[in-house]
Amino acid sequence: MLGHDLIDALKPYDLSGVGLGEGSGLGIPYETADLSEQALVDQCWDRIRPELVFHLAAFTNVDLCETERDLASLANTKAVECVARASKRHQAPVVFFSTDFIFDGFQEREYVESDTPNPLSYYGATKRDAEAALKACGGPYVTFRICWLYGARGRSFPASILAQAEKGAPLKVVADQVGRPTYTRDVCNALSRLLSADEKIFHRVAGETFHLANDGTASWADFADETLRLAGYSVKVERITAAQLNRPAKRPAHAVLSLVKTQKILGLRLRPWQAALADFIRERQNSK
Ligand SMILES: NC(=O)c1ccc[n+]([C@@H]2O[C@H](COP(=O)([O-])OP(=O)(O)OC[C@H]3O[C@@H](n4cnc5c(N)ncnc54)[C@H](OP(=O)(O)O)[C@@H]3O)[C@@H](O)[C@H]2O)c1
Repeated sequence: MLGHDLIDALKPYDLSGVGLGEGSGLGIPYETADLSEQALVDQCWDRIRPELVFHLAAFTNVDLCETERDLASLANTKAVECVARASKRHQAPVVFFSTDFIFDGFQEREYVESDTPNPLSYYGATKRDAEAALKACGGPYVTFRICWLYGARGRSFPASILAQAEKGAPLKVVADQVGRPTYTRDVCNALSRLLSADEKIFHRVAGETFHLANDGTASWADFADETLRLAGYSVKVERITAAQLNRPAKRPAHAVLSLVKTQKILGLRLRPWQAALADFIRERQNSK
């Protein structure tokens, strides 16, 4: 989901992709490799000789991570270690994407970058461990914690709400978890702006962690209601609790990421989530 939009946003650069899939339709040179295999990663890196690495690959099905723990650890932690080691040999900074799910969400105030992680889910634990592994490797890296991501490609929350509304299915959505809905395109455009202003930006801020998300907060039910309203539906969702939904992985109730450091150090403040969602819905309707 994020990778497709990043390729679009970074078009002016000489890009290469590496991942599990075939990479067809990406429009860039692509090598198929499991990133949790160090030897394969080393070979790819030696061929590509990257100057900068965006590490997007992950096992992102949070519920499945609870039962598929070995796979989750390989994809979310081991792969980061492999990429970090190979990138260090090339002195290429790794731009890594972590998550609000490393926090427990028990505190009322927003989470700052230096708050201590305490993940409730196995997915969150693998991403916390990945952050630590990246730091321990000793090469240049920057971690962006992002959250509640949706985009044109892949599974996304607003797309599944609209699919259910189109079928006339009843909509029950969790109202007691709050976060910052974030559009992939806004994240990618922000990263592109950073690079075009200063190609060495990720060397300059190496070792830092930043929170990057659209402004404002919402519950999943608020997010769903706004999606339906923007798409022209007059229905509202039935608001339920996370306990009623009872999913395999626990999610934080209030893991709202503070955006202050990112604005102060990088000069980035993304627009309110409602404005981004309106663009997403408009583009989705135009592409039909
Ligand atoms: N989605 C969110 O709400 C969210 C929130 C916070 C942070 N993030 C982070 O943001 C990043 C991008 O997320 P996304 O939602 O764009 O992910 P996504 O759409 O699920 O894409 C992840 C990609 O990683 C690939 N992959 C998995 N294991 C791999 C391995 N061992 N080797 C190579 N490739 C592998 C997957 O390939 P297959 O499709 O072939 O399995 C998939 O194409 C991830 O690091 C994620 O943890 C996401």
